[in-house]
Amino acid sequence: MSSIPYPAGDGSLSRNWDLSPSATARSIIDEFKHQMELGLAADRSGSLAMIRTFIPKTARFHPGTFVGLDLSGTNFRVVVLSVNPDQTLAGNPRIRIFPIPSRLKRGKADREAHSRDLFRFLAAGIAQTLEREGIAASGLRVGFTFAFPTRMESADRGVLLKWTKEWDLPDLVGRDPVPELARACRQAGLQGVKVNVLLNDTVGTLILGYFSDRRTLAGGILGTGTNLAAWLGSTAINFECGNFNFGPLRDRILTPVDRDLDSRSRNPGQQRFEKMVAGRYLGGLLRRLLDGTHPSGRFGERGTVDAEDLSSLAADSGDLPETRRFLERLGVEEDLLEQRQQAVSLARMILKRSAQLSALAMTATAEWVDPGLEDLHVMTVDGSLFEHAPGYPEAMRRMLRSVLGSRADRIECRLVKDGSGIGAALASSAVEARATG
Ligand code: GLC
Repeated sequence: MSSIPYPAGDGSLSRNWDLSPSATARSIIDEFKHQMELGLAADRSGSLAMIRTFIPKTARFHPGTFVGLDLSGTNFRVVVLSVNPDQTLAGNPRIRIFPIPSRLKRGKADREAHSRDLFRFLAAGIAQTLEREGIAASGLRVGFTFAFPTRMESADRGVLLKWTKEWDLPDLVGRDPVPELARACRQAGLQGVKVNVLLNDTVGTLILGYFSDRRTLAGGILGTGTNLAAWLGSTAINFECGNFNFGPLRDRILTPVDRDLDSRSRNPGQQRFEKMVAGRYLGGLLRRLLDGTHPSGRFGERGTVDAEDLSSLAADSGDLPETRRFLERLGVEEDLLEQRQQAVSLARMILKRSAQLSALAMTATAEWVDPGLEDLHVMTVDGSLFEHAPGYPEAMRRMLRSVLGSRADRIECRLVKDGSGIGAALASSAVEARATG
């Protein structure tokens, strides 16, 4: 049986997790901008890769039917959309979702996973979708969102630099995912499918945002992982800012819980920002904080904690029935209201810091292109955290107001559902428009 002692209540914990004091917030923004500069100058001392893409900032799309594939985290999505000659979309995009079994992401403890199995799974999902939609494979143009750090060599060629989000298929590192997918498609009987663009999920979201509003500066993902892409000049740059490491601020910003989570991850020392912000990691933070409240150092014996749990705790009210169920699932047998209240405030604290950090990264991006924030900058955002975590967009907005005052309204965050998959199909159409002149 486990129990949580009554909270100490001196506020020291939540003070360390709150980034709203403006000096802290401002120093994070400045460090982020500094590291953007380093990344753009290909200076390896920075932690932002700032990967150049071959995606043009264009408003010209080729008419026809295009497919977008979205491999970014939890699910694989296949999107089919048609662009009209007048550059509008013909009806709503059709979307099919395939949950990705975890053995395809990182193998089992006793066996290394091989990327071939993953690509077979993707090809099967594509084949099913085309059959259901009655679309012929031959001549089909496809945009492939591959949401991992990938150095681009042309619009449709890239090299995987490393895995993130706890994926680990070592054979693919240093290789191009496009020919692998093409081979799996051929083996699945899909002849003539052409992947004409490989892109990051942030870039897909950016393209979709720009398609609907030319004031769109950036595309952001706040889901399993986190990252930003923006138009810097005439092309899209994938920041890979999940790897932002806070530079000299690190000791001040990271808590012992962040360090512990990092040291037990598959990529210690990397993706520090992502491990404080993104859904893949927030459950691990809560679990550790709960453990810290228990004298034995181990809170509850069972189960795992994920970002959806944080959302349901944060939304709980009254005598906190959802939280009771959550604690029961973890094997906590005592049932004190104080325990439940404490778990709820920890979940809210974690989500709030995540939202604050996201807002700071967006502020840095907007200030980098427009230091005085003279114009309105739209940030198109896709991802389950932004969409579902209670109070998340509001916490971002509060952070923006606290650092920018009345200029906070020059940054507007807009949700697009399935932005990365729809954006991949649009990117395929944009690249086709360029190829056909
Ligand atoms: C991780 C990946 C990045 C992706 C992000 C959101 O940070 O490295 O490429 O954009 O997750 O899915």
